Amino acid sequence: MLCRNALKTVPALSRSTIYSSIAIPRTTILRATMVTTTQTPLKDAVAHDHQEMYDYYDQYRKSAGDTDAQSRWANQLTWEVARHAVGEEIIIYPLMEKHLGQNGKDLADQDRADHQTVKECLSQLGTMKVGTDEYDHTISRMMSQLHEHNDSEENKDLPQLEEKLHLDHSREAAQQFKTTKRFVPTRPHPSAPDQPPFETLVAFMTAPIDKLKDVFASFPTEEMKQEMKESSR
Ligand SMILES: [Fe+2]
Ligand SMILES: [Fe+2]
Repeated sequence: MLCRNALKTVPALSRSTIYSSIAIPRTTILRATMVTTTQTPLKDAVAHDHQEMYDYYDQYRKSAGDTDAQSRWANQLTWEVARHAVGEEIIIYPLMEKHLGQNGKDLADQDRADHQTVKECLSQLGTMKVGTDEYDHTISRMMSQLHEHNDSEENKDLPQLEEKLHLDHSREAAQQFKTTKRFVPTRPHPSAPDQPPFETLVAFMTAPIDKLKDVFASFPTEEMKQEMKESSR
């Protein structure tokens, strides 16, 4: 599948900026606060990542004319997008398939297809020079596709999943999902002749999901980290 180009361009404003510009009567906010008591840790963790993507992209746009800064923000953004996508495929989509029946399988299939389109964009970006029109155009298209996909996850997939999960389970899944932040680019070490597994973004994205699951499983578990904290008290 190709990196699609028929979607709308990305709004320049982050959502926090948009929301802050909407005038909402104070009484409405108070009433909403009173009834919105349901906790959704997993959805919140995913939405937090989405907002980070928008923030990094805003920084990329604001750095126009400074190729070094744009390059750094583009690297941050593209790794964040790839890491986030893998985290969802390892932790969240299997939960949707398990708890939402056929609907969950269909949603997860659609999400994986969306991710594939975004990964195509990331691959194309890897062959382009930051600061060029084609790079700008491709990253804008990717963000546009991500906006649609992210909105669907936040407004459709995750609310349904949260309804089925106990709060403890949602918290645990959120913790596991946050742990995927450890997927970061590695640098080749002079004394290690073998190529490290995720030296490049493309190597990371094209790694089979089972291999990524194995790498993920090699991190300390939440229990191990908790034990470490308790033993150091
Ligand atoms: Fe996603
Ligand atoms: Fe997402």
